[in-house]
Amino acid sequence: MLSSRVPRDLTLNATARAVAALRRRGGPLLDLTESNPTRVGIAYPPDLLTSLADPRALVYDPDPLGLSVARDAVARDYARRGLSVDASTVALTASTSEAYALVFKLLCDAGDAVLVPRPSYPLFDYLTRLELVDAIPYPLEYHGSWRIDVDELRRRLTPRVKAVLVVSPNNPTGSFLHGDDLDLMVSILSEHGAVLIGDEVFADYGLDPAPHARSVLSQQAVPAFALGGLSKSVGLPQVKLGWFALAGPAHVVRDLLNAYEVIADTYLSVSTPVQVAAPVLLERGRVVRTAIQERLTRNLGTLRALVAEGPELSILPVEGGWSAVVHVPTTQTEEELVLQLLAERGVLVHPGYFFDFPRESFVIVSLLPHPNVFDQAIAGLTAHVRGALGG
Ligand SMILES: Cc1ncc(COP(=O)(O)O)c(C=O)c1O
Repeated sequence: MLSSRVPRDLTLNATARAVAALRRRGGPLLDLTESNPTRVGIAYPPDLLTSLADPRALVYDPDPLGLSVARDAVARDYARRGLSVDASTVALTASTSEAYALVFKLLCDAGDAVLVPRPSYPLFDYLTRLELVDAIPYPLEYHGSWRIDVDELRRRLTPRVKAVLVVSPNNPTGSFLHGDDLDLMVSILSEHGAVLIGDEVFADYGLDPAPHARSVLSQQAVPAFALGGLSKSVGLPQVKLGWFALAGPAHVVRDLLNAYEVIADTYLSVSTPVQVAAPVLLERGRVVRTAIQERLTRNLGTLRALVAEGPELSILPVEGGWSAVVHVPTTQTEEELVLQLLAERGVLVHPGYFFDFPRESFVIVSLLPHPNVFDQAIAGLTAHVRGALGG
């Protein structure tokens, strides 16, 4: 009865079962996997969402690519990152995840493929599969910083590949797309014909004082979709507004947008109230973005200080984003470590394998949690690892 798009095995993994059992018992949970900014004690202005009640939204007059008032606001917002974007190349979606689905519909037939970075965001498996697209991983290599293995990427670019995804900064490695990697990719893709899809949802959150970041929009040689959204840029995932801006040769951009308009017109999924409110949300959301940035910087400082107390753990460099990768000694499998940490200390972390790290042992911690939770959880993690070594 079910289509092959839907995964058949819906059973919970051992960690999810252990978390559910802990919650049933009412045990304390120090959650270092929390990625929801609305649940970590960030001070949102209480009237932040009043613009959603703007009476102009009482009229339904949809535009498949989005109302110009919102597309203009998104284009203006790019100037903050030093990018000049024409509002006519912006299209609105209900979320970044939806933007992926719609762009895959635009570019791929069933059985086509897209290249996805590894390690990276696990939802790509679902986002591609639901569109009958294959996700073929290409490696990011860690040599003091994370860089794209461009030779491997080139090897995987078969005619079936319609797009290459880059996530900048990447979730969870925190690595930005470096300018020389972008230049190399652009020269390869201009020969091959695949397009670039740059997931820049975390681009506002640089943690390195001088990240070598380059947006996929900073070039015009190949068609490139840059994905963004309110969920990360102003910490409002529940408001449901995402977008993409499209760069590339003018005639290709025009053809892509014309075809995309047919897809967007079929769904018209972005609500009028959020489009009318977009200029205010983008402008006033700055306060939330600043509060999130302060939280990330504060927690990263604490993490660095606690990890520096001994040689057992180390933190991989974090250029940006909402998480950090902690290298731990391999005294047991990552899964055993995660389950033990949960059972003995009530601390929940993601194992590296969840994000397809090529080898053990890493744990990924969110930098978002409230300091009370974060400090206790990191103290639990470091004490556990040091204890396991008899330290
Ligand atoms: C790299 C990356 N892309 C996209 C998304 C999804 O964003 P949205 O809430 O706009 O769908 C996430 C969410 O965590 C993410 O980590």
